[in-house]
Amino acid sequence: GQVVVVSNLHVKPGQSIEVKGCISARCTDFAITLGKDPENLLLHFNPRFDLPGVTNKIICNSRENNVWGEEQREHVFPFERGSHTEVSFKYEKWKINILLPSGSWFTFPVRLSAKVISYLSLKNLELKCLKIE
Ligand code: GAL
Repeated sequence: GQVVVVSNLHVKPGQSIEVKGCISARCTDFAITLGKDPENLLLHFNPRFDLPGVTNKIICNSRENNVWGEEQREHVFPFERGSHTEVSFKYEKWKINILLPSGSWFTFPVRLSAKVISYLSLKNLELKCLKIE
């Protein structure tokens, strides 16, 4: 799928990242990834519509030195292909609170020692607005 990368960010605990975009009409999944670099990811947020063994679930994971950690699965799924969406990530020291477009939220632990988010990537999501505050 199509990938967009934003690098040289400097997002610290206490800040939040809001992503607005349009999900590709024909995709099996999309992803918003936050990290230090492509090999060290604090959060890979990956809603999957239709992949082998997974239908309409959000998969979250971390990646350290290019090795995936343990997946966390969420069963809420307020996403539709071909439509606009909006997800906010409130970065705290030990966790990231993820606010979904439905208004519900969940948390993912910060597992890496790297604390500054300098890398963001989007897969199958056409970026409309990126807000950091
Ligand atoms: C893998 C997938 C990666 C990533 C990872 C998350 O199976 O190929 O793109 O989603 O799971 O654990």
